[in-house]
Amino acid sequence: MSKRVAILISGGGSNMVALARSMHGDHPARPCVVVSNRPDATGLERAAAMGIPAICVDHRPFAADRPAFEDALQTALAGYAPDMICLAGFMRVLTAGFVGQWAGRMLNIHPSLLPKYKGLNTHARAIEAGDAEAGCSVHEVTPALDDGPVLGQARVPIEPGDTPERLAARILPLEHQLYPEVLRRFVAGDRRPVRLP
Ligand code: GRF
Repeated sequence: MSKRVAILISGGGSNMVALARSMHGDHPARPCVVVSNRPDATGLERAAAMGIPAICVDHRPFAADRPAFEDALQTALAGYAPDMICLAGFMRVLTAGFVGQWAGRMLNIHPSLLPKYKGLNTHARAIEAGDAEAGCSVHEVTPALDDGPVLGQARVPIEPGDTPERLAARILPLEHQLYPEVLRRFVAGDRRPVRLP
């Protein structure tokens, strides 16, 4: 039976679209729901257009009460019986309590060559540091932010005069390639890291 994948987003959802498109034919998984924490995330419309249930669990009414938000998220997810979660541009920090419930069953994509540049503004930080290359990583989610075993990386050279925007524009298509490749392997029980190119 196919594994059921919940995809969590906060914005445009281009990684969500790449993941959802990849799950067809002999792929061992299927998307079961897309959840956004922001009602205005355009990725929700894109998911619905692909025929995937698309729902919002707005974090704002919960203010600083992260566990209460996560309870609501967990309840909403339960209705779709996911086997695993892919975080795809989901911009909320999750507590150890939530992460623990999905231990070994939750992936994230992060726009840096982890363990470098956890958190935000990754491309600007790589340029500022004078790094020769940048990229993206897919990793298993553990309680520490942007930590956890790396299951795949894609890298690009940083060019003279690069801006964070230019770098992001070169890395995003690699995210769309990397994440589906890692997901397919992960669902098949293969944790050997994917390396792109
Ligand atoms: C991606 O760069 C992802 O790595 C991140 O935020 C961006 C999300 O883009 N942390 P999208 O919503 O998948 O288009």
